[in-house]
Amino acid sequence: QQYPVRLRINGQDREFNVESWVTLLDLLRERAGMTGTKKGCDQGQCGACTVLVDGKRINSCLTLAVMQDGKEITTVEGLAKGEDLHPLQQAFIECDAFQCGYCTPGQLCSAVGLMNEGQAQSRDDVRELMSGNICRCGAYPQIADAVIQVMD
Ligand code: FES
Repeated sequence: QQYPVRLRINGQDREFNVESWVTLLDLLRERAGMTGTKKGCDQGQCGACTVLVDGKRINSCLTLAVMQDGKEITTVEGLAKGEDLHPLQQAFIECDAFQCGYCTPGQLCSAVGLMNEGQAQSRDDVRELMSGNICRCGAYPQIADAVIQVMD
């Protein structure tokens, strides 16, 4: 059986019919065309799938699409405004905050969520509060640099 799911994805109203077991991650990648959101572990351990739901960061592999009916979703594709990169995207470039780039969409969405939360006051806070986003290349210092640069 399929269920209707209405989402506002990166400013666009979309409607889908999905089985109850489809994750938000799979809906975004396979049905909505938002392949910027990455599937790393598919079990909540790597953070590659992080997106924003009503401005709050979430591991999209850990939530069912039907549970997010009516919500506003922002993926990495929705961060830039036209040709203008989001300040965090610009800072990631300036700080060389990626190597292979696989974790970057999740890192960016997590960092935007972190800033929305307003909890991080220091570099240590950034490292701690983004510890759910794994980077296999070890770009953690540069990622923290980029986030701090935008926070300052
Ligand atoms: Fe969701 Fe790894 S794919 S946390």
